[in-house]
Amino acid sequence: MCGIVGYIGGEQAAPVLLHGLKRLEYRGYDSAGVAVYNGKAVQVVKSKGRLAVLEGILREEELPGTVGIGHTRWATHGAPSDVNSHPQVSDGGLFAVVHNGIIENYLDIKNHLKRRGVEFVSDTDTEVVAQMLEHYYQGDVLEAIRQVILRVEGSYALGIICASCPEKVYAVRKDSPLIVGLGEGENFIASDVTAILSRTRRVCRLKDGEIAVLEQGRVSFFGPDLEPLEKPAEQVEWDVAAAEKGGYEHFMMKEICEQPEALGKTISPRLREGRVVLDDISLTREEIENFSRVYIVACGTSYHVGAVAKYAFEKLLRLPIEVDVASEFRYRDPVLDERSLVIIISQSGETADTLAALREAKRQGARTLAIVNVVGSTIAAEADDVLYTWAGPEIAVASTKAYSTQLAVIYLIALYMAQETGRLPGEELAGYLKALEALPAQAERCLREKETIQYFASQYFNAHDMYFIGRNVDYAASLEASLKLKEISYIHSEAYTAGELKHGPISLIEEGTLVIAICTCGRLFDKMMSNIREVKARGAVVLGITTEELREKLAQETDCQFCVPATADFMLPSMSILPLQLFAYYAAGMKGCDIDKPRNLAKSVTVE
Ligand code: F6R
Repeated sequence: MCGIVGYIGGEQAAPVLLHGLKRLEYRGYDSAGVAVYNGKAVQVVKSKGRLAVLEGILREEELPGTVGIGHTRWATHGAPSDVNSHPQVSDGGLFAVVHNGIIENYLDIKNHLKRRGVEFVSDTDTEVVAQMLEHYYQGDVLEAIRQVILRVEGSYALGIICASCPEKVYAVRKDSPLIVGLGEGENFIASDVTAILSRTRRVCRLKDGEIAVLEQGRVSFFGPDLEPLEKPAEQVEWDVAAAEKGGYEHFMMKEICEQPEALGKTISPRLREGRVVLDDISLTREEIENFSRVYIVACGTSYHVGAVAKYAFEKLLRLPIEVDVASEFRYRDPVLDERSLVIIISQSGETADTLAALREAKRQGARTLAIVNVVGSTIAAEADDVLYTWAGPEIAVASTKAYSTQLAVIYLIALYMAQETGRLPGEELAGYLKALEALPAQAERCLREKETIQYFASQYFNAHDMYFIGRNVDYAASLEASLKLKEISYIHSEAYTAGELKHGPISLIEEGTLVIAICTCGRLFDKMMSNIREVKARGAVVLGITTEELREKLAQETDCQFCVPATADFMLPSMSILPLQLFAYYAAGMKGCDIDKPRNLAKSVTVE
C-alpha cells in the first residue's frame, strides 16, 4: 500500500530515492514520484505508471539536490494520474508530502481550506496534508506538523520536506509503517527496511504519533506534543541478497524455492531434545489450561493458514476454535474474555484490519499471540507474545514462503500447547515432531518436480474457470491454491468443500471444466473419490493431488495425478500447496501476466 522513502546526506538524492523505491514497488505501482530541494525550491518529478516511467523521465530531467522524498503509489483517493501521484505540494510550494494510508476526514478539511481560499489540484487525501502544513506554518515546521496531526483522522506514514527548512526531512506516522535508517553522514526514512538495506542496517521504528527530524548528521525524535524522545536503534539481520532476485526471473519463483530453507529456519531452532521449545513466548501451562476458546484472525493467505489451524488445534487440543477474517472480526463484536486466546497471523505485521482485530482482542481482555514475519512490525510490537516466521523478506505480492512458515508455526503452537498440557501420549508427540522436522527435506523433494506442473499449466493456462475441491485440511489448502491462481493469473477460480458441490456449485461444471481435487487425507479418500466421480460424470477434467500411497487408487478416477510426500494429516497442506503455487506461477507466466506485481494488488495492505 504505497511505498515511501526519504533521504538526506552527501549524495545526490534522486538516485538514492529511486533505488529505495525499486525495493518498495511491491507495495504499489500505479504511479511514482520524487521531490528534491534543489537549492532554491522544492522540485517535483512524478508520473502515472510504473517506476520505470519515472526513471525514464529522470534520465532526461535534472533533479539536483541532496535532500528528498519519494513515493510509489497504490491509489486510494483519485485514479492513477500524474496529478494524483505523490509527492503532493502545497499551494505556495512550501511543503512536499509523501503519504501511505488514508486521511478519513480529508473532505471536511478540504472544504474548510477551500473556503479560506486554498486551491486544490488533485483528488487525493494527501494533498490536504500538504495544504494544512502550509496553512498552519508560522516559521516552525514541527509545530505545523503537530497542528496537522491534531486534526487528521485515519492512518498515515508521512515524509515531508519544506522549502524554508531545506536541510531536514520530517517523518511522522500513525497506523502505517515507517522506519528511520541511520547511516554514516546520511539518514533515511522508508516504509520498510528493504528500501535501505544496501545503505544501512541500523534502524529506529517510529511508534504511533512519533515524529522524526532527519538532518545529514543526526536524527531527533519527538512525541505528539513535541517532547524530545530517546529512541534506541536496532540492527536488522536480513541480508541484502535476500531482497534481490538472485538469478530468478521473478521474486515469486525465488520465494517458492526458498521454502525448504525457510521451513528449516522456522522449525529447527524450536525443536530440542524431543520437545517443542518456544522460548520466545511467555504462556504458562496454567494459562494454556485455562483457555476456553481459541480465535485465529488474519487476512488473505494468512487467513488460509487459520483455516488449516482449525483442524490442527481441534485434533490436538480438543478446544473450540473460531477462524475469522480480520475485517469481519473487528466489526462483529466478538465475544472474548481473559479465557480467550486470540492468534493473529500476518506476514507484514502491518495489515490494517489485522492490527485493528488485535487491538479489539486486547481491549476485550483476551490473551494475544501474533505470528509475524517482519521483525519489529506494529503487530509484533503490540501483541502480548510474538512468534516470528523466519522466512526472510517476502517481496512478491503473492505470498508463498510466508504461508508455509506460518503453517509451521501453527503446528509448533498446537503441539506445544498439547505437550505442555500433557494431552498427547509421548509416542504420538514424538511422531508429530519427527514429521515436522522432515518437512523442509520433503518440500525440497516436492519442488524438484517443477516440470510436471509446468507441463500441466501449459495445457490449461487458457481456461476461464477452474475449481479446487477438497475435504478437511485439503479444503483449507484449496482455498489458498485458488487464491494464488486468481491473484496472479486472473483465471477465475473457486474453492469448494467437495461435499458441498452437490448443493449448488456442481451446476457450474460442464464438458472440459478443470477441477483440481486435493485428496491427500487418507481418512476421507473414499468420500473424495465419490465427489470426483460426480464431477467427471458431468464432463470435468480432474487433476488429483495426492500422496504416493493413494496414487494408484486415484489414477482410476482422475485424468492425471501429482504426488506429494506423505506427512501427518494436519500438516498435509504444507505439501499439497507446493505444486499448486507452481501451477499458479506457470499459468500466470504463460498468460503473460506480471507475476510479481499483479494488477490492482499491493503487498502490505495498510488501509481498510
Ligand atoms: C496473497 C497475499 C495476501 C496477504 C494478506 C495479508 O498472496 O499475500 O492475501 O496474505 O494481504 O497480509 P499479511 O499477512 O501481511 O497480514
